Amino acid sequence: MVPTPLHFNSSIAAWTINKKIINISALCGKIIIMTKISVAKGDGIGPEIMDAVLSIFNAAKVPLEYEVIEMGKWVFDKGFSNGMTPQAQASIESLGILFKGPMETPKGKGVKSINVTARKTWNTYANKRAFQTLHGVDTVFSKAGIPIDITIVRENIEDTYGGIEHMLTHDVALSRRFITRPGSMQVIRYAFEMAKKKGARRITCGHKANIMKLTDGLFLEVFYEVAKEYPDLKADDIIVDDLCMKLVTRPDTFDVVVLTNLQGDIVSDLCAGLVGGLGFAPSANIGDHISIFEAVHGTAPDITGKNIANPTALLLSGIGMLQHLGLMESAATIENALLYTLESGVHTGDFGDKSKPSVSTTDFANAIINNFGKKPEHNPKPEVSDTENTCTVMHLDKNPMLESYEATQEKVVGVDMFVESANQPKDVAENCLKHTANMFNLVTISNRGTQVWPKGSVFTNLVNQYRCRFESIEGKALTQKDIIDLYERLTKDFKVCSLELLNEWNGIKGYSLAQGQ
Ligand code: NAI
Repeated sequence: MVPTPLHFNSSIAAWTINKKIINISALCGKIIIMTKISVAKGDGIGPEIMDAVLSIFNAAKVPLEYEVIEMGKWVFDKGFSNGMTPQAQASIESLGILFKGPMETPKGKGVKSINVTARKTWNTYANKRAFQTLHGVDTVFSKAGIPIDITIVRENIEDTYGGIEHMLTHDVALSRRFITRPGSMQVIRYAFEMAKKKGARRITCGHKANIMKLTDGLFLEVFYEVAKEYPDLKADDIIVDDLCMKLVTRPDTFDVVVLTNLQGDIVSDLCAGLVGGLGFAPSANIGDHISIFEAVHGTAPDITGKNIANPTALLLSGIGMLQHLGLMESAATIENALLYTLESGVHTGDFGDKSKPSVSTTDFANAIINNFGKKPEHNPKPEVSDTENTCTVMHLDKNPMLESYEATQEKVVGVDMFVESANQPKDVAENCLKHTANMFNLVTISNRGTQVWPKGSVFTNLVNQYRCRFESIEGKALTQKDIIDLYERLTKDFKVCSLELLNEWNGIKGYSLAQGQ
């Protein structure tokens, strides 16, 4: 692909700077600007940990007002198929910030996770998860004196998370994996900006472009395109398996890591393990319009209703939200009190010194409140002034179209026909060759991505679905009609399960080769 600048063709009707100011009061001579956000307490332990976090926010006089909305499993059960009421959706779309507890995905086919739906519907394209050594939370690394401060930025919309899956035959399931240039550009640009603000020394792209040359290759290409705009940041890349190995041996060498969706999901849970587990893993889903702050963990049904859940991950997510809103003073006060509390050995049942009694969720929150104004010995956060809340709410009347502009020549030069057959490769080839009509060459047949015709190995195990690649003779441009005619001819001998066009841009192939081709 030819690297070109991105041009976002977006149909945004109007923009307004949204300070979400709902109440300005002069207390003690200080003007307090209240910001209103949507809060969904969630399912399982959600209400317990959310109440604990909000009690800390209230005690710290965080200038936020909360619109509590209906979202979660119980809303699915009331008959709302996307797990939220229309009022909840309207609240989030007008306020732009959702602070949420974990939510249960009802079991059974056809019901999508509300967490994934929310992230995708509102285009929160960057999932930021910050992992740092927390003193008082023992891990092999903290005991070895190896500090960890890693931020994972995971693409949040695309990849296999589109959930676009089909059974092609009774034996063969297919998942479509979309990686797009504009989508990659959004998340990678966010990662670089965030790394710059964080004062990071290094930003790394994790990928598997050695195998997925077009999809991960595109993500990596965009990474280095954006890197040119940040010459002061050391930008490098690493294959994701090597990244996992290095994260568990030398986590202190990483700073900001950006990855595609599925790889980012796995790597970020690995990083949660490095700092003490899911109870300490916060998450921010950042979009241009709406951002969602939540813990990484789920609803913990095994401990629900017992007032023993650890609220740290949700609290850290809340602190990230305060920073996002420019409420730096409150964020620093609460974070210092949290770090001090952890250092002093106060702990819920899931972590800490087992020889000391654990405290309840409520008592853990109260301990933090009692420690306001105290500084931890390790990594105290500097008291900084609030910054301007630059969050914007866009009022849209059309869906934004993200499009990268490329002055290129596009040509269809062939087609991959995916056909069902339990016959041997040479028989499949014979049947395909009957239908080329002096217009196509049959160039390769593969099974599960491995070439089995014209050359192959009898040791390659087969399934009942082949990919037959037809290319136009001498690279002639094909029309849609040429493809449909071939499709129709092939149906005389096969069930055609699906097809993909073979596109070329400026003579560069937009498709991969089969293994062994
Ligand atoms: P989970 O994260 O809820 O629980 C895994 C284990 O970690 C359990 O033993 C649990 O007790 C423990 N745990 C989790 N959070 C804890 C906390 N704050 N304090 C102490 N211990 C904690 O994962 P699981 O069981 O796979 O999922 C349960 C439900 O949560 C499912 O319906 C799932 O779909 C949903 N879920 C929701 C998420 C979200 O809302 N973002 C994320 C992950 C899962």
